[in-house]
Amino acid sequence: MKAVILVGGLGTRLRPLTCKTPKPMIPMVNQPFIEWMLLRLREQGVTEVILAVQYLAERFRETLGDGSRLEMKLHIVEEPEPRGTAGAVKNVEHLLDGPTFVLNGDVMTDLDLKAMLDFHREKQAKVTISLTPVEDPTQFGLVEMDRQNRVQRFLEKPRPEDITSDLINAGTYIIEPEIFRYVPPNEFYMFERGLFPVVLQTGDPMYGFPSRAYWTDIGKPQTYIDVHHDVLIGKVKYKFLGRQIADRIWLEGDAEIHPSAQVVGPVVIGPGTVIQRGARVIGPTVLGARCVIGPECNIEGAVLWENNRLDEGVVLRNCVLGKNNVIGERTHITDGAIVSDDCSLGAENRLERGIRIWPGTALGERAISF
Ligand code: GTP
Repeated sequence: MKAVILVGGLGTRLRPLTCKTPKPMIPMVNQPFIEWMLLRLREQGVTEVILAVQYLAERFRETLGDGSRLEMKLHIVEEPEPRGTAGAVKNVEHLLDGPTFVLNGDVMTDLDLKAMLDFHREKQAKVTISLTPVEDPTQFGLVEMDRQNRVQRFLEKPRPEDITSDLINAGTYIIEPEIFRYVPPNEFYMFERGLFPVVLQTGDPMYGFPSRAYWTDIGKPQTYIDVHHDVLIGKVKYKFLGRQIADRIWLEGDAEIHPSAQVVGPVVIGPGTVIQRGARVIGPTVLGARCVIGPECNIEGAVLWENNRLDEGVVLRNCVLGKNNVIGERTHITDGAIVSDDCSLGAENRLERGIRIWPGTALGERAISF
C-alpha cells in the first residue's frame, strides 16, 4: 500500500517556528513530526510513501533521505509551484497504482488506517474521507452522508440552523488513482473546493469513515502546545523515544539532574540536558537535547527544542522555545508565547499572551516588561 503525504504548505499560522523549518519537520516530543507519521504508516502496512513537497524541500531530503533508515521507500517530489492539495497529488499521479492513502502532513491522529482500508474495500468506494466529530461545526466544512455512509453533500462553514451533522473532514483520504483524471494538470486545485464536489456530480462512490480517534491539527501555536500535552498525558497512542526512569519521566540518552531539582511527570528529557540546583520541571513538559535549565528555574507545560540555555530563575509556562536560545535571569515566558530560534533575551523580560519572537532576535534587559 502506498501513501502520499502533503507537506507543501507554508505553515503561516505557526510562524515563526516555521520560518526555517517546514511545519511537518518541526519536533513533536523531540522527533520530527513527519518521522512519527512515517513510522505510524509503516506500522499500519504502508511501505512506500510519496512526500509532496514545495517549501524548504532540502530539509526533508537531509533528514529522511530515501527512507531506508525507517525501512520504507520514500519519494520526495518537489512541485514547481504550489498546486493545492489535490493538484499536489495529481503531480505525483505517475507513482500511484492502486488505492492510496492521502494525508495532511500536519494532523496528529491515531486513526486506524487498516480499518479505514477495509471499509473502503467493503464499500467498493473510489474515495473514502475520514471524518471526525467536532463540538462547534460552524468553523469547519461539514460532510453529510446517507445511512450507508455515502457522501451526499458538503457544507462549508454552516450557519447554526443548517447544521445536520457534527462530522467534519479529518484530512485522511483513500483515493483510487483513476479519480485524478478529474484534476486538471499543472493547476492549483483543492480537494475540498475542487475535486470532492466534482466527484459528487460524477456519481463515483464516495464514502465517509467516521471515527472517534484522536485528531488535532498541529498547525497553530496553541494546538501545537496542546498536542504535546495530550501526547504526554496519554490521550494519543505514542511511542516515546527514551526510557522511563520514574513515574512518567522519560529520558533520552544521558541527562544530569541535580539532587535538589524537582521533576514531576509527564516530562520528556532530551539527551545531554542538564537540570541545575533547585530547578522545578513540571509536566506536561518536553525538554529538547542539550538544554541547560539553570538554578531555581520554574518550568511547567512548556515545549523546548534543542540547545536552549536558561539562566537562573527563568519561568516558562505554556510556551514554546525553538532551538539555540539564551534566556536571561528571571525572564518569564508564559501564556502561549513563542520564541523561535537563535534568540538572546536579556534578564527580567516578560513575554506573555501569545507574543512571537522572530529568529535571531536580541533583547536587552527588561526590554519587554509589564
Ligand atoms: P497555514 O499556512 O498555516 O494555513 O498552513 P498550510 O500552508 O500547511 O495549510 P493547510 O494547513 O491548509 O494545509 C493542509 C496540508 O496540505 C498541510 O499538510 C500542507 O503542508 C499541505 N498543503 C497545502 N497546500 C499545499 C500545496 O500547494 N502543495 C502541497 N504539496 N501541499 C500543500
